[in-house]
Amino acid sequence: MLNGKHILLGIGGGIAVYRVAELARLLIKRGAEVRCVMTRSACEFVTPMTFEALTGQAVHNDLFDLTGERTIGHIQLARWADAIVIAPATAGLLARLAHGIADDLLSTIMLVAKAPVLLAPAMNHSMWHAEATQRNVETLTARGMQLVGPATGDLACGETGAGRLSEPESIHDALLPLLTTHALKGQQWVINAGPTVEAWDGVRTLSNRATGTLGALLAGQAAALGATVTLIAGPGTPPTHPQVQRIAVESALQMLAACLQAGSDTDVFIGTAAVSDFRFAEPLAGKMKRGDTQSMSIDLIANPDIIAAVAGMDARPVRVIAFAAEAEKHIENGRTKLLAKHVDAVVANDISNMGASCASGWWISRDQEIKLNAGSKHIFAAAIIDQITRLDR
Ligand code: C5P
Repeated sequence: MLNGKHILLGIGGGIAVYRVAELARLLIKRGAEVRCVMTRSACEFVTPMTFEALTGQAVHNDLFDLTGERTIGHIQLARWADAIVIAPATAGLLARLAHGIADDLLSTIMLVAKAPVLLAPAMNHSMWHAEATQRNVETLTARGMQLVGPATGDLACGETGAGRLSEPESIHDALLPLLTTHALKGQQWVINAGPTVEAWDGVRTLSNRATGTLGALLAGQAAALGATVTLIAGPGTPPTHPQVQRIAVESALQMLAACLQAGSDTDVFIGTAAVSDFRFAEPLAGKMKRGDTQSMSIDLIANPDIIAAVAGMDARPVRVIAFAAEAEKHIENGRTKLLAKHVDAVVANDISNMGASCASGWWISRDQEIKLNAGSKHIFAAAIIDQITRLDR
C-alpha cells in the first residue's frame, strides 16, 4: 500500500525517538520512501546517523544548512511529501505547530506543507492531559491533522498513563487512510452536533450541557478523508476542518429543517446532537416580568425526533447513525432506539461522556455489538467513522 509513497518523518525531541527508528524501518519495508527531519532536541536523544543509515537519505535538521538547501530546500521537502508523520509529537512541538511558530526546519516545513499530517504524540501523561496541550491538539485536528495515540501504559518517566508513542504498526495503519485520502471522496456526509436552545422569552432559554465536540471531530475527520461534509451546529459547537460547511442553528425546529434539507439524498447522516425533547408551547416576546409570582407552570410541547424524521424521509441518506446517551442498560436501550428510529446503527455511550475529554461506547448495528474502547474523543470519532465505512452498502 505504501509503494513509492513519499513519507516525511518529522521527529520531535523526546525519549520515544528510539522507537521512531523502528517506525522508519517499517515504512520502508512497506515500500515507502522516507526522509527524516529532526528537531535539535531529537538529535540529543538519537543521532541523525541512525536515521541516515536506516533511510539511506541525508537527515535534515538545520534551517540554515546551505548544503542541505542546495540539494533539497525546505520548501521542496514540504512539497515532496505525500504525507507527513510527526513522531514523537512532543508537547512543545504540538504547541509550536498549533501557533505557527517557525523557529526551526521542521516547524517551518509544516507551515508550507499541504500534505496530510499524522501526529503521533508521546509525552508524560500530565503533559498530555494539560489543558494547553489538549487545546493545541484540538486546534491541529480542526485544521485536518489526524492523530494516532498516545497509547496508555508505562511511561519512560516511571509513571503510568496516556502518553506512550503508538506502536509502529498502529502508526502505519493510521497513515494508510491518509494516503488513500480520499477513502470518502465523492461521499456526502451530514452531521448534527451540539445542544439545541429553546427560547422561552427574548432572554431565557431551555438547553442542555452538550458541547458538540464529538460531532465537530467526526465532521473534521470525515472531511480530512475526502467527504463533502455539512455540520449542522447547535450553539457552542467548536470550529472544525475549514472545508466543512457549517450551518448554525439554535432550536430543534431550525435543526430539523436544516437536517431534512441538507440530509436529503446523501450518503451518511450522523445525529450526535442533544436535541431538546421539549420546547415552550407559547414562547413570549420581550422579557417576562416576575412580578409577585411565587410559583408557576409553563407548558412544554414535544419536539419532533429529528433523526427519525431523517431516517423516514423519501430521499433518506444511505446510512443513518444515531447516538444514545444512557445512564444504564446501554446496549439494550441502544438497540431499542435502533429499531424505534429506523436507523442503521446506534453509538451508545454513557451520559458521563458529555462534556468529558474521553469517550467510550458501543457500536450497535442490526447484526453487531462492538465495544469501542475508551480513548480521547479523537480516537472515539475515528473508531466510529471506521465502523460506518464497514457497514455494507
Ligand atoms: O431518544 P434519544 O434522545 O435518547 O435519542 C438520541 C438520538 O436521537 C441522538 O442521535 C439524537 O441526536 C436523536 N434525537 C433527535 N431528535 C430528538 C431527540 C433525539 O434527532 N428530538
